[in-house]
This record gives sequence, structure tokens and C-alpha cells, in this order.
Amino acid sequence: MTAPKLALATAPVTEAPVDAIVIGTVQHGSGLALAPGAEQVDAAFDGALTEVLGALGATGKADEVVKLPTLGRLPATVVVAAGLGKAAADGSVTAEQVRRAAGAAARATGSSKRAATTLSAVDLQAAVEGFLLGSYTFSAYKSDATERELARVELAAPAGGTAKEHRATLKAATAIAEAVTTARDFINTPPNDLYPASFAERAVALAKDAGLEVEVLDEKALRKGGFGGILGVGVGSARQPRLVRLTYRGPRARKKVALVGKGITFDTGGISIKPAGGMEAMTSDMSGAAAVVASVVLAAKLKYPLEVVATVPMAENMPSGAAYRPGDVLTMYGGKTVEVLNTDAEGRLILADAMVRAAEDDPDYLIETSTLTGAQVVALGNRTAGIMGSDEFRDRVAGIARGTGEGGWAMPLPEELRADLDSRLADLTNVTGQRWGGMLAAGVFLREFVPEDLPWAHLDVAGPAYNGGAPWGYTTKGGTGLPVRTIAAVLADIAANG
Ligand code: BES
Ligand code: MN
Ligand code: ZN
Repeated sequence: MTAPKLALATAPVTEAPVDAIVIGTVQHGSGLALAPGAEQVDAAFDGALTEVLGALGATGKADEVVKLPTLGRLPATVVVAAGLGKAAADGSVTAEQVRRAAGAAARATGSSKRAATTLSAVDLQAAVEGFLLGSYTFSAYKSDATERELARVELAAPAGGTAKEHRATLKAATAIAEAVTTARDFINTPPNDLYPASFAERAVALAKDAGLEVEVLDEKALRKGGFGGILGVGVGSARQPRLVRLTYRGPRARKKVALVGKGITFDTGGISIKPAGGMEAMTSDMSGAAAVVASVVLAAKLKYPLEVVATVPMAENMPSGAAYRPGDVLTMYGGKTVEVLNTDAEGRLILADAMVRAAEDDPDYLIETSTLTGAQVVALGNRTAGIMGSDEFRDRVAGIARGTGEGGWAMPLPEELRADLDSRLADLTNVTGQRWGGMLAAGVFLREFVPEDLPWAHLDVAGPAYNGGAPWGYTTKGGTGLPVRTIAAVLADIAANG
């Protein structure tokens, strides 16, 4: 939780009084090669570094970390060689390759307290993000803290650019990585401590620190306002729901962007209860909310020339004597009625209220993100978000998502699925009667609550928001903080291009 301090090196990193020096390796053509920036380290090994690393089994592949003692050839005790994977024919690598290698190296620094790196000479921003995200730990609930020891990383500067530009890059990358770890902290906080009221309080405290305007609707205000979706899902819990609104008004704002994120602090499924196996992962069902809260705060820190409003519905989906049932009809915010056929399709209900409220502000764009469907994981797996919405904006967001390395793929909202949501009683049902195309059906449901002419994107991050497996690259166990970097990049793109 205490992040290492990153600083631009003022002397050659080979002279830095550090414990470890992190360099990059690549798979180039048929063999191992050093990534740019490692020349001086190589010189300390009389130009035989590639050979020595090769003898130790290094291949340069992604997620590989090979350590080599320096035996006094450098002030550092060890060289940590982090694989970037395949280099392009011209020897170049992508930012995401650098980010992942920096993350893998940060996870492998062991007892090293001080490190220096040449990965930043390849891509400064990516190296900073990779080190900060890879060294992330969450030990708030460990009685003997097992924090990583890495306290300081000295960054070799890239060849191009001025010192002032490098400092600005370091500052922005640090802010972006901090936003991701803020989201991770929210997700990793267990559901007995992070419930709607406490989540709202923490979000408000963070937002106030960043100078944002805040508004919180409690259950009374939600009843008065007619937020039937949020209330329907939330009333079954002893912990009552909230709707949080955080507003950043940037200088000379060019555009207004609405953010909405799913904040189910725990999803049991409600009366349509989930099987017990693996249910604990539903502590992460507020990952969308965590991402948009962190993103609106980040927008303020980076002073984007935009107005950004996050509208965040928070509820706990529990079965109880007060819970909503299959068969209930809810009157949503704005007046549409929904027949509930499955109380486990709760995310779309709280999101519909929030999206209608968000659209009332007349934004230029609406970006919504949620751990919405198991079908997303079936279709795209654990690392690729499904991105739906209005065609043009959806494609723009999907392209940007891939550019950040977070990944994402455009998915359709087929017209014919709308009829599957027709209800005997109400305007629509919350689920279709069949299991096919579940990710798309959820998107089609949400579309009913978005004004025709508003460009919008829905990012289903059910798989990628939470890493239940082993760490890889800069992705640690638990909450990943996705899609904070995508949202930040979309906001930057809107700020630049409208
Ligand atoms: N929160 C879940 C979706 C989910 C599943 C997130 C796996 C992360 C990992 C959501 O509320 C849900 O339960 N969706 C149902 C919808 C179904 C009832 C139409 C699902 O996907 O099974
Ligand atoms: Mn559910
Ligand atoms: Zn859910």
C-alpha cells in the first residue's frame, strides 16, 4: 500500500547506489537481445551480458525475470533482467510490453529496497505505471504486514525530450497509477467493511480532497426521487443503498462527460441466489463504481479541460424478508417499468436509474462500466472487456482501450434481442428467457435507458476487473483497477479532439 517513490535519475543508473538494477530483454529474431538503455550495464559485464543471461536460461519472453549477481562490477548487487517479449523487426517494443515487464520486475525485487531501471529509457510513462502497479500490495487485513520492501526506483531518462517534459510525464503517470491503485483498494476492501454507506463516505472523502462537488442520496432521498431500480435491488439488505454524484468542473471545459459505474458492494444474487462456490469473488461487483470514482478524481488531478460527472449507484444484493422477488415490477427513475424475472440481473437495474439521472445533465458522452455478466467472461475471457454502445463512440473507446494495454473488443447490440425483453406486465423484463448472447442482452437492456442522440459506451469488465488467478505483468491478485486507464485515455482524447 505504500508505493515506492519514483524519481528521474540525475546520474547514469549504473552509478546509482541501489540494490537492484532492472533492465529489459527481448526476443529478437531467433535469440535473446538486450532492450535499449542497457548498454552501460552490458559494458560493466565486458559486453557479455546477453551471453551470461542466456546461460542462465533467459529468453526475453514476457513475464520472465532472471536475476544475475553483479559481483562488484556495479554498485548494485543484482541485475534484474525483465523479458519484454517479441520485438518488432526494427527492434521496437510497445508501451504495454514495457509496462508489463516493469510490473513483473517490481513483483520480483524481493528484499531490494532501492532499484534503478533502464526500462524508463524505452518508455518512461509505461515504466512508471508498470513499477507502481506491479509493486501494489493490499495488506490492510494482515496482522503482520507483508509489504513489498521496494521503497525507491531511479529512472533512466529517455533519449529524446527535455527534463521538464520528463518530469511532467512522471507526474502524470504517477497520478494515473495512483488512480488505478485507488480503485484496487476499494475493490480489495471486504464487503463487511465496504457497503453502500461506507463506500459513499470513502468516495466523498476522496472527492472532497480533490476539490470536487459531491452529492449523496440516501435511501430516503432515493425514495423521494423515485429511484426504483436502486431501491428495488438495495432494500433486501440491512445496509441501505446510496447514489453518489461527484462533479469535476475543469478550466475552459470543452465537453461534458458522464461516467456511471456499477456499485454492487456484494452480489449474492438475491432471491435468485448464486451457488456458494466462488461467491466470495462477488466482493468485486463494485469494480465499475471504483473505476469511475477514481477516474473523476484523476480528471481533477490532471486538470482535464472537461466537465466530468460520476453518477454511482451503490447497493448490496441480498436475499431477505424485505428483498425484491422474481415477479416484482419496479418503476425506474424516469418512469419506465421493469418486470424482474431474475434478481441476480441486478446490475442493469441500478445502472438504468443512474444512467437516466446522468443523462438529465445533458452530457456530450456517457461512459458506463460494470461487472455486468458472466456471459462476458464466457465470450471474451478474463482479460478482454466487451465494449458496446452507440457504434461510433463504441469503436473509438474500444480502439483507445487496446491502445492503453487494458484491452477491449467492440460487441454489437443486435436489434432482435429487444423482443426477448418484452414483458407480459411491464415495459420490459430484466432478462431474456434464453441463455444465448447474455452480454449483448444486458447491453440491449441498458440502451432502453439512454437518449437516442447521446453517444455512449458500455464496458462490461466482469472478467478483467478482478484477477482470481496468479499475478502477471503489472496485474496483481484481486482487483485490477480496470478500466481506469481506458477511461482516463478516453477523457484525454475527448479533451484533445472533442
Ligand atoms: N455480477 C454478476 C456478473 C458477474 C459474473 C461478474 C461473474 C463477475 C464475474 C451479475 O450481477 C450477474 O449475476 N449476472 C447474471 C445475469 C443473468 C442472471 C442474466 C449472470 O451473468 O449470470
Ligand atoms: Mn448478479
Ligand atoms: Zn452483479
